[in-house]
Amino acid sequence: MTTTASPIRTERHDDILVIVSDNPPVNALGAAVRQGLEAAVKQGVADASITAMVIRCDGRTFFAGADITEFGKPMQAPLLPMLVDMIEASDKPIVAAIHGTALGGGCEVALACHYRVAAPSAKLGTPEVKLGLLPGAGGTQRLPRVAGIPLALEMTAKGDPVSARTALDAGLIDRIVGEDSLAEDALAFAREIRAKRPIPRASQRALAPDPDAVAAFTKANARRFRGFEAPAANIACVVKASETGYPEGVAFERSEFMRLMTGNQSAAQRHLFFAERQAARIDDVPAETALRPVDHVGIIGAGTMGGGIAMNFLSAGLPVTIVETSAEALDRGVAVIRRNYEATAAKGRMTPEQVERAMALLTPTLEFDALGTPDLVIEAVYENMEVKQDIFTRLDAIAKPGAILASNTSYLDIDAIAACTARPQDVVGMHFFSPANVMKLLEVVRGAKTAGDVLATVMALAKKIRKVAVVAGVTYGFIGNRMLIPRQTEANALLLEGASPEQIDRVHVEFGMPMGPFQMADLAGVDIGWHRDPARIESVRDQLAVEGRWGQKKQAGFYDYDEKRTPRSSPRVAEILDEWRLKTQTPQRQISDEEIVERTLYTMVNEGALILEEGKAQRASDIDVVWIYGYGWPVYRGGPMFWAKAEGYDKIVAGLDKHGFPVANSLRQGSIK
Ligand code: 3HC
Repeated sequence: MTTTASPIRTERHDDILVIVSDNPPVNALGAAVRQGLEAAVKQGVADASITAMVIRCDGRTFFAGADITEFGKPMQAPLLPMLVDMIEASDKPIVAAIHGTALGGGCEVALACHYRVAAPSAKLGTPEVKLGLLPGAGGTQRLPRVAGIPLALEMTAKGDPVSARTALDAGLIDRIVGEDSLAEDALAFAREIRAKRPIPRASQRALAPDPDAVAAFTKANARRFRGFEAPAANIACVVKASETGYPEGVAFERSEFMRLMTGNQSAAQRHLFFAERQAARIDDVPAETALRPVDHVGIIGAGTMGGGIAMNFLSAGLPVTIVETSAEALDRGVAVIRRNYEATAAKGRMTPEQVERAMALLTPTLEFDALGTPDLVIEAVYENMEVKQDIFTRLDAIAKPGAILASNTSYLDIDAIAACTARPQDVVGMHFFSPANVMKLLEVVRGAKTAGDVLATVMALAKKIRKVAVVAGVTYGFIGNRMLIPRQTEANALLLEGASPEQIDRVHVEFGMPMGPFQMADLAGVDIGWHRDPARIESVRDQLAVEGRWGQKKQAGFYDYDEKRTPRSSPRVAEILDEWRLKTQTPQRQISDEEIVERTLYTMVNEGALILEEGKAQRASDIDVVWIYGYGWPVYRGGPMFWAKAEGYDKIVAGLDKHGFPVANSLRQGSIK
């Protein structure tokens, strides 16, 4: 065995050369790995006593891709496209031995190898599209030639990895080997094929066009791809593979890759990749902080939020005790949980056994005292400070020492809630987003006294239940909802000044949001937060609420709806607006789309800057994560703070100044971090 400082080492097994990468954490294909691979393959080719080679990785995974941290910097030779061509050109067969996740450039290395064997749990994928890119090392040309156009479209344009089983069925791998015997089995496989000729080379395979598959795929995913540049580029490259020879296809792939790489969308998506990982770090809590064990979760309230929150833990295999005050509410809550799971199973995303396993972990009860055993208790009752304070007082009396006591409040002061207990260090906010079993965001609200290990535990738990967690300080609405406030205030004001709900919503949808502010109000319920006093009509929204226009659920809100919930402009809403314009003596004028952007989106950025100045968010990229995962901000715009920087802070400041908004200092000075 030869060992050097290089992350690549070689092992000789008689006439087989095994090339091993050891580049933690994910064997990214950085310069040292590429150089080591090149040298090792050259060594194998030059050595007459070698008949075949195996490439495998130590650690948790096969190469998980190009090294993203190198993007945008000058690249050192050999570049990945050259390396993979050199691997494929070897006149001795090379076997890729795959475990973990062979992603992106890693999948391309595997495709350049002549054979691929994989552990049963291995996954293969080309997730570049999620970074606004495409597989740029021949992947778009080799993958369809090996696995067929339909699977290549799925893998490249959607970016989701496939299992070893799917890969085997499509011919993307040649054999599934033992889970714990990959190294030996790959070696045995290499011995089997070492004398076989011709050596199969992906780039030399023929590929017939399949326009029907391409059209069907494009149509089926039109909604998912809306606004994104990279999916279409991936599709175009796969199509090219079926229309031209390999060299032309690769040239096309290269030019498309460079176009995407230098564009704004990929920059935004790569920003998000790191932002999401950065969000897990708490500035003053060391990464090695010992965590509190959480093996049992208690939830107070089996309503929409409580039930959705419970599902996260049940799905992750954690027992949940859920408490309600009436048998009726409890039964209803449990039935909704079951119904949601069964709907998931009906879509094939869960097996009936998994549904039963999750439900078996749930203990519904009317006994508050049952919350004496869980390690974490999450309160999810309605937004009322007195009610929450009462619950926390009672919880303090019975919860076991060291249990984490969390509130799912979306606006209220965690410190005031914690103050009702003798253990404010154990109290934290866990703000889930509705529907809580679906939305990826979790705002973790840090009270003045919340202990470091409580925060660290909750952040780790968030990862376990597959949430993206962001730490927020105590401030009204925390990060996300606080930024909604100026947006909503301005949207309402714009209505009176002459804009229509349709215009404002359209501007937001064209920007890339899933829906505009008034569509969102109709979906959530116009009556939410309404004072319910019919004599007090102080806004357009009050007027709608009084008239029973509560949104989609009543088929009337800011829009009229038919039974299928298709929205139509509402003549009644137009009337109400005219009445209110008169009543408030607001002169009507033509509102430009630009003004809507400036007043509803620039003000959000300004609020974000204030949140940062007040230390209520740790970093600008955390705010981006909140808005992408909690509110559907378009991924390709990287979040509000990234977008503001890309647009230019000066432009944002000028837009705010134009309408007389007080501008945050850090925004004006361009010193946002
Ligand atoms: N380059 C550089 N660093 C990477 C990386 C990559 N491709 N992939 C992961 N990392 C880093 C992460 O930033 C993280 O670093 P940190 O600990 O300092 O925060 C660390 O590796 C571990 O990553 P995760 O926390 O994400 O670990 P998981 O076990 O949850 O997930 C994974 C592992 C599935 C490999 C996941 O990291 C992942 O999806 N990575 C991205 C894979 C990818 O997009 N590859 C394509 C790259 S583009 C490409 O190959 C272009 C080519 O076609 C030319």
